[in-house]
This record gives sequence, structure tokens and C-alpha cells, in this order.
Amino acid sequence: GPDELARLRALAVEVATAAGELISVGRPDRVEVAATKSSPTDVVTAMDTASEQLLRQRLRAARPQDGFLGEEGGHEPGTSGLTWVVDPIDGTVNYLYGLRSYAVSVAVVGSQGPPDPATWTVLAGAVVDPSAGETWSAVLGGGATLADAHGTRTLTAGPGPELGQVLLATGFGYDAARRAEQAAVVARLLPRVRDLRRVGTASLDLCAVAAGRVDAYYELGLNPWDFAAGWLVAREAGAVVTDFAGGPAGPHGLVAAGAGLHPVLLEALDLG
Ligand code: IPD
Repeated sequence: GPDELARLRALAVEVATAAGELISVGRPDRVEVAATKSSPTDVVTAMDTASEQLLRQRLRAARPQDGFLGEEGGHEPGTSGLTWVVDPIDGTVNYLYGLRSYAVSVAVVGSQGPPDPATWTVLAGAVVDPSAGETWSAVLGGGATLADAHGTRTLTAGPGPELGQVLLATGFGYDAARRAEQAAVVARLLPRVRDLRRVGTASLDLCAVAAGRVDAYYELGLNPWDFAAGWLVAREAGAVVTDFAGGPAGPHGLVAAGAGLHPVLLEALDLG
């Protein structure tokens, strides 16, 4: 019921806030950035692990029956039919370099068997941006909000502008073969939109669509923990979120935009 959903959302916000504090306070001033292109340095990996451990422990303590799926430690099945899907640091490369856009993403999904974005139901989610002091959260059927030091406001995504006026966010996975494909999509789209942003934090890109800070966001090759919570925030704000063919969004493709813009963007992306 609605009370149960509200409790799940409150728990998501609570644990994501604690993990956000851990990673922002714990980030060393100087991080050695010279690691491989695809993998962060040990110090970042250590913070990633510490953040995920905090999330895992707190959620286990509060709801021992639920399953858990995290970027670092993988899937631990539960018995309740609910699974927490978490990214302990989304935007790891920004975090590594000292750029301020990174977040903790926590979602809870209902699923038969292992959590799968093709079939799961995202029930509640929170995305905490410690640098900005912003907490984004949503609950299924109950809307999405942005909370900061000034208060809490309900998010409403507009229909979106025409393609030529679109500020379009995207991201690139770390897989080299996929990057060539992603570059080709960018080459095709860039002349047709206002501009592109590659912020580096998928969860916050989805929240930006919810708040109208960008008009749309697309990416292929995301992991479930990158988008589970942000997907719900965007959806509950009224944005449309699908894959490139208009089916359920997932690792194979995610396109988020206002309802008017979304079909136009799918056609322009032409990846269906
Ligand atoms: C990454 C970020 C990035 C996106 C990548 C993700 P991570 O997540 O969200 O913006 O382009 O596809 O893997 O690795 O920092 O948790």
C-alpha cells in the first residue's frame, strides 16, 4: 500500500544520504588519477566498496528479507520479492578527478526471480548528490521530488522543445568497441540539437530530465544500478523513458524525454 511505499522511499533516502556523506567526506584531497581508462584507482575502489558496504548493512538490518544488487558485490537474493539495487558511487570518474557531479543511487524493485530491468517494477528510489546538497526521490504512482536546504518541491517534466532547441545529455560506457558506435550516434545528432552534455553521472542525468535542467538524455550500455532510481524519478515527473525502439528501457538502451519530444528523439536516434 501507499504507506509501505512511503516507508521504502524514506529508507532509500536515509541510506543514500548516509552513503553520500561517507563518500563526500571521505574523498581524499589528492587522488592519483593515473589508472587504466576503464578502471578507477584503488582509493576510489575502496570508497566504492565502503559505500556499498554501508548500504548493504543498513538495508539488511532494516529489511533482512529483501535481496540486494550492488555494483561492487553483485546479487544476494532475498525472500520478500523485493530487491535493493544500488550504485555506491555513480559518476566514479568525476569522483576520481575531483569533479563535483557524482551521486549515490538506491532503488527498490519488485521482481519474480532475479531483478531484471525488462520485467521488474521499480517501487521507490533515491539519488543523493552530496556536492549539490540535493536529494532526488520518487515512489511509484506518488510523484518525484527534489529536496535541498531550501525545501522540497514536486518535479514536473514538460513536453520538451522541438529538436533544434534540445539540450541533450548522454553518456558513454567504458567498453571501447561500443564507443565507436556511440561516436557515430553523436556525429549524427550533434548538428540537429542545441547542444550536448556529457556530465558523467547517469542517475543525475535522469534527474536533470525530471527537473528540466536538460531536455532529454539517452545512453546505451548502462548497468541496472546506474538507472533504476533515476528512471523512476524521471517517470514520476512525467517524462517518457523507453529503449530506442519504444520498449522497456534497459542496458541495451535508454531514452528519457518529455512526452512531446520523446517520439521525435527516437526517430532522430534511429537505433530502434
Ligand atoms: C557510469 C556513469 C556514466 C555513464 C556510464 C556509467 P559509474 O557509472 O553513470 O555517466 O556514462 O555508462 O557506467 O561507473 O560511475 O557508476
